[in-house]
Order: sequence, then C-alpha cells, then structure tokens
Amino acid sequence: MSIQPDRIIIFDTTLRDGEQSPGATLNVEEKLLIARSLAKLGVDVIEAGFPFASPGDFEAVQKIADTVGTQDGPTICGLARARKDDIKRAGEALKPAAKGRIHTFIATSDIHLKYKLRKSREDVLATIPEMVGYAKSFVDDVEFSPEDAGRSDPEFLYQVLETAIASGATTVNIPDTVGYLTPGEFGQLIRGITENVPNINQAIISVHGHNDLGLAVANFLEAVKNGARQLECTINGIGERAGNAALEELVMALYVRRQYYNPFLGRPPESEAPLTNIDTKQIYKTSRLVSNLTGMTVQPNKAIVGANAFAHESGIHQDGVLKNKLTYEIMDAESIGLNENQIVLGKHSGRHAFSKRLQELGYNLSDTELNRAFLVFKDVADKKKVITDWDLEAIVGDETQQPPELFRLEYVQVSCGDRAQPTATVTIRTPEGRELTDAAIGTGPVDAVYKAINRVVNVSNQLSEFAVKSVTEGIDAMGEVTIRLRHENQTYSGHAADTDIIVASARAYINALNRLYDALEKQAQGEPSQPMAGV
Ligand code: KIV
Ligand code: ZN
Repeated sequence: MSIQPDRIIIFDTTLRDGEQSPGATLNVEEKLLIARSLAKLGVDVIEAGFPFASPGDFEAVQKIADTVGTQDGPTICGLARARKDDIKRAGEALKPAAKGRIHTFIATSDIHLKYKLRKSREDVLATIPEMVGYAKSFVDDVEFSPEDAGRSDPEFLYQVLETAIASGATTVNIPDTVGYLTPGEFGQLIRGITENVPNINQAIISVHGHNDLGLAVANFLEAVKNGARQLECTINGIGERAGNAALEELVMALYVRRQYYNPFLGRPPESEAPLTNIDTKQIYKTSRLVSNLTGMTVQPNKAIVGANAFAHESGIHQDGVLKNKLTYEIMDAESIGLNENQIVLGKHSGRHAFSKRLQELGYNLSDTELNRAFLVFKDVADKKKVITDWDLEAIVGDETQQPPELFRLEYVQVSCGDRAQPTATVTIRTPEGRELTDAAIGTGPVDAVYKAINRVVNVSNQLSEFAVKSVTEGIDAMGEVTIRLRHENQTYSGHAADTDIIVASARAYINALNRLYDALEKQAQGEPSQPMAGV
C-alpha cells in the first residue's frame, strides 16, 4: 500500500521552529493571528508549538487546535521529544483539533548520541516503538524525526525509519538540523531512503532543513525530485540560527517551474494543476504579518517578498519591462498578492470606498477594526496625496496586529535641530486610565521620546534594535518603524507606521512596551511565559 500524495504537502513551522529565532517570541494572541493567516494561505499542516516547553506554548497549541484546527482547516501539529511526558502534553494540547498530529523526535547522529543524549544506537532503536506507539494512543497521525539525520550514518538511519514506520509513524521527516548537506547529497539521502527502507511506501517522506550554508531551499527541491512529498518550512525563512527553508521561495519555485517539477510527481510536464495547495496571492500579506509581529524585518533583496524583489532599477531593465514584462520578470508581483495599483482615495473618500478597497485586497475587518483603520486612513490622507495599496497594508497591519492596548500614546512633541538639545514631551494614558505627561532630553529626537516614555511607563528594558523604512517612495511616504527591546532575556517587538517617523517611533515603542507589560501581568497572575531552551 502506498500513501504517497500526488502533490507537495506544505508543513509550516513558523510558530515552532520559526519562533526559535533569537528574539522572535510571540504571545498567544499573536500566534493565533499568524495561525489564521497560515490557514488562509492554505498550508496543509501548522506546527503550532512545543507544548511541553512552556505553559504559553501549551496554551497557544491548544487555542490554535480549537479555533483553526477545524475539519476543513489544516492539520495542527505539536512537537514532542521522544519522552512520555512530552508526548502526553502534546496529546492534551491537540485534543480540540479535528485533525491533530504529534511530531516526535530523537537524535540519530553519532555526535548527538555521544555528547547530547549519551545513548547508544541500540537505546535509540529501543525507544522508538515505545514512543511512537505512545503518541499513537493520542492521535492516528504521528510524524517521526531522526534529528540530525543529515549527519547520521545512512545504514543506521534506514533501520531507525523502518522501526518508526513499523511502529505506526505515517510521516518520516528527514532533518538537516545543522544545514550541512549540499543539494546533491540531500537528494541522494532521500533516494537512499526510498531504496533501502523496506516499508517506506507506508509513510510520507518529509524534509526539514536549516539555512546555515544558504542551501535549505535548493536541498528541498532536490529532495522533491527524489521522493520527498512534505516540505517543512517557515514564512520569510525565519528560524533557529540562519533560519529554515523559506515557504514563499519553495512554493513559488514549484509554481513558476512546475513544468520542470511535474514529471517528478508523475505528471505530464505541461500539467497546469498546482503542485501545492497554497493560495500564492496570500504570500505577501502573510509575510508582512510575520515580519511585523516577530519584529524580524525582511531584507530588501530577499527572494519573493523583499522590497526589491519586483523592482527594476537599471534603465535597460526598465526599458525591457515596459516593452514586455517577460524580458526581466519570471513571475508577476500580483501572483504573491502584491498590487501596485494606486487608488484614488484621498481625504474626501468615504468609508465605503475605503472598505471596498480593503476587501479587494483580501482584508475582512471587524467593524471596530474598520472604524479605527478608517480614522488613521483619514489622517494619512490629510498629509499624503496618493494612497497606495502598500500604504493601506501598513495602516491595516498596524490596526489589526495590536497587542492589548495597556498604555496609549495620546500626544508626542519634539524639538530638535543642529543647535538644540533634542527634547520630547509625551502624554500617555495608563492602563488605569490616567493621563500622564512627562518630558526628557536625549541624544536625538527618538532617544528623547523613548526616555520621556520610560519616565511614564517605568518598566526597565534595553532597546536592542531600531529600524525605519519607508512604505512607498517620495517625500510624503509613510515611515514604518520596527523595534525590539529586551527585558530579562526575553525580546518584545513593536511596529508602527505614520507619515511622521517620530510619531511612528513613539507608537512602535509603546506597542513593544504593551507586549512586555502584558507578559509581566500574566507572569504576576501565575502564568509563566518563559519557555524552556529550544530544540
Ligand atoms: O532542526 C531539527 O532537527 C528540528 C527537529 C525537531 C525536526 O527542528
Ligand atoms: Zn529545525
């Protein structure tokens, strides 16, 4: 019996491996927002977290299982080491999911066995049936990973996989945990598995890989050619160290080059049937959401979702594109949901036109969100003549991705210049509803604003990152500010957009402080949010 699908399964691990990126911590509400967006994008499996790692992770997996893991929605997966207490916790968190999966793993490379696990190969082989069997007592759908498979002895790996499948694993995942393999080697590894694991037809072969040498996507595509049918990836390629294979790059490679990949999936080359279930038009929006909430900005030259990915700077290229797009474009910006249309919405535009355009862009806001976004839109339209879809994305992103509004910026004013000491005055509404005003001087206007805010909010923190980028071109462009701050080894991100970058900077800071304050409140109520060290 073969259970090989005739298409590629997209397993998204943004909320688990992606969240292991240094400083990418997300709270439960933020994880839910991302999970909803991933479901809309059409991923097949969402690895929602590592339930044993912390109560916050458990709660996030449980809530995602409950609200996103519907019968028509994606499979919701929880990670567990090959230990009973880990697996039990994952099983409990996944209970509300219509389709739940436990992903259990144990290392198999000699270096991990000797130094990390202090176990023999025989110990590992003996653990697998017990743990896969235990996972099966919670869910039918069990995935097994031999961690560091890329550096494991292939002969031992074949034995491990055969044992896992015989014990009930329906997906076997092959991780290149340290991003060491080259495409040819990864392809060979997968081929070797298809040829040497006798029961391999009873499981789906999945691949997982890190980008330490920048090869993760290339490795996966070679794996597809050799029999892999599930790809484990993250939005914007975020993840441990150099990150994971980027979902958007894999999906668009399989979309743009489908004629090349079709035969490897037994299809005629000319078949137009999509190789994945992803709605590519949702890619850009999902990328923005993940970048805004994690505070991990996307480099401008990043494939598919970087700001320059569809920009043509040189005259020769511009001339070519104007004559025929295909001269320098292998895909259309619209295919990832990026729309360059400039809408004629100005300060006289009504709520109806605004809401209609947002719907066209795929946003379905609640009445409250729409009202708030409309007020901001009016404000921006007062200052900026042309409102582009990029501006709208920034406005909506800001209004819908807010942490609980504990502190609110009511007023900010700065005075600065080459002969002046930068000075800022701020008025902030506190969670108790009091309006407090304070002022500070700083080395620059943003420093002065942040010092003034600190005097009111009074929660110790260190600013670890501050980035401003313009949403569109031109002197009246909106500026987007992304910041990260640290408090007791945890990172909190903040994001805001405004035509005035000092206002955007102040709001981004308040945004991050609200996340920090919310986490502190939860800890005080006995909800520890410090996760254990990542996998
Ligand atoms: O990189 C890795 O090996 C992992 C496993 C848990 C699959 O993330
Ligand atoms: Zn990983």
